[in-house]
Amino acid sequence: MNVCVLGAQWGDEGKGKIVDLLTPRFSIVARYQGGHNAGHTVYVRGRKFVLHLIPSGILHPGIICVIGNGVVVDPLALFAELDEIAGMGVDATGRLLVSDKAHVILPYHRELDVLAEARRGERKIGTTSRGIGPAYEDKIGRRGIRVGDLADASIDGPLASAVRENVAARNRLVGNVDMSADQVLADVRRVWPRLHPLVTDVSLYLHRAIAAGQRVMFEGAQGTLLDIDHGTYPFVTSSNATAGGAATGLGLGPRAIGTVIGVAKAYTTRVGEGPLPTEQTGEIGERLRETGQEYGASTGRPRRCGWYDAVAVRYAVRVNGLDALAITKLDVLDGLETLEVCTAYRCNGTILTEMPGDTAQLTGCEPVYETLPGWKTPTRGITEFEKLPAEAQAYVRRIEETSGIPAAIISTGSERDHTILRKEFEKFV
Ligand code: IMP
Repeated sequence: MNVCVLGAQWGDEGKGKIVDLLTPRFSIVARYQGGHNAGHTVYVRGRKFVLHLIPSGILHPGIICVIGNGVVVDPLALFAELDEIAGMGVDATGRLLVSDKAHVILPYHRELDVLAEARRGERKIGTTSRGIGPAYEDKIGRRGIRVGDLADASIDGPLASAVRENVAARNRLVGNVDMSADQVLADVRRVWPRLHPLVTDVSLYLHRAIAAGQRVMFEGAQGTLLDIDHGTYPFVTSSNATAGGAATGLGLGPRAIGTVIGVAKAYTTRVGEGPLPTEQTGEIGERLRETGQEYGASTGRPRRCGWYDAVAVRYAVRVNGLDALAITKLDVLDGLETLEVCTAYRCNGTILTEMPGDTAQLTGCEPVYETLPGWKTPTRGITEFEKLPAEAQAYVRRIEETSGIPAAIISTGSERDHTILRKEFEKFV
């Protein structure tokens, strides 16, 4: 059975570690949305790898990694990442495939991202400035350029005219020096020889691999609450980070997905703007940020930190059809006297147990907390559930009760083997 691993909160849940850990059970790891806005940090034998666009499975020799049509690809960012991992001894030759239908991020997208944020002023989203939103805008606006289009070297072909039109639109919007369409075109043509060998009909490739009995892991980026449809709109990213995105973003039917694992931190973080009901701006927030090293893997921005939000994760269970959770960073809570778990929101005197669809309403909500005892002995590196301190076991059980699904995996540290893989829930992974 194939497995989809995705974020059950606001991104940065530690998906990279979980994908890396499970990769040996699969033949293929496939990314289905987002771009190099993502930052998936993986520690292997003390070495830190930060992946943005390339699926985290690449760190395992022999695994095929796939970038689907739902992803937006900045070719230069992709090459930079390939060079970086090659420099660290990871050979991706022949193991990375890119969909011909994936849309391309070009220099004007990055500029338009920055411009749009400046225009939003107070209502800015806090994007990663990587050009993600404008690239998806062009895709939906049917003026985007796809990876397969880059093969067209003709001077007056569709690629040249699309680049000219898009650069002209950029020049009308960005008031400083004009960008040269010919220069963009020349740069775009330069990337093709290196990109070309990777370009594949990903839908067909996966379809055949699955038919031949190979297992595929679908790797989501960002998180459920950053999903363009189901997140805290407009403070979201521009793609479907939820499970449905795996089907549309790779060209597979929904039945190909198999089980869905939601990765959730044992507390909550968010980077960028938008509501975060359990945010702690004081001492606790600082403690979580420093202990959990909560700084953006892509942008280095400090993450906003707060208590575990069971309403948000329960919502993720619903919109993704989650089968099980992978709880990460439990060890970050080591030593805290007491822990708060948000089980409902109070909005204008009304108690809500389900995530409101209206972001303005969510902004006005206050969390309703339940207090649980903390634990004195460290959980770091523990590999068996029964060896966790009783209070930590109770904390995990409360997460399971409030979400309605089991915690199949519990991460107790950054290394691969700092993990509890619970035998009774093996069937989900
Ligand atoms: P964009 O994806 O760059 O357009 O940014 C939109 C929102 O998603 C901002 O709040 C970003 O901080 C957030 N975001 C994008 N990628 C990630 C990620 O990988 N982790 C966490 N937040 C992200």
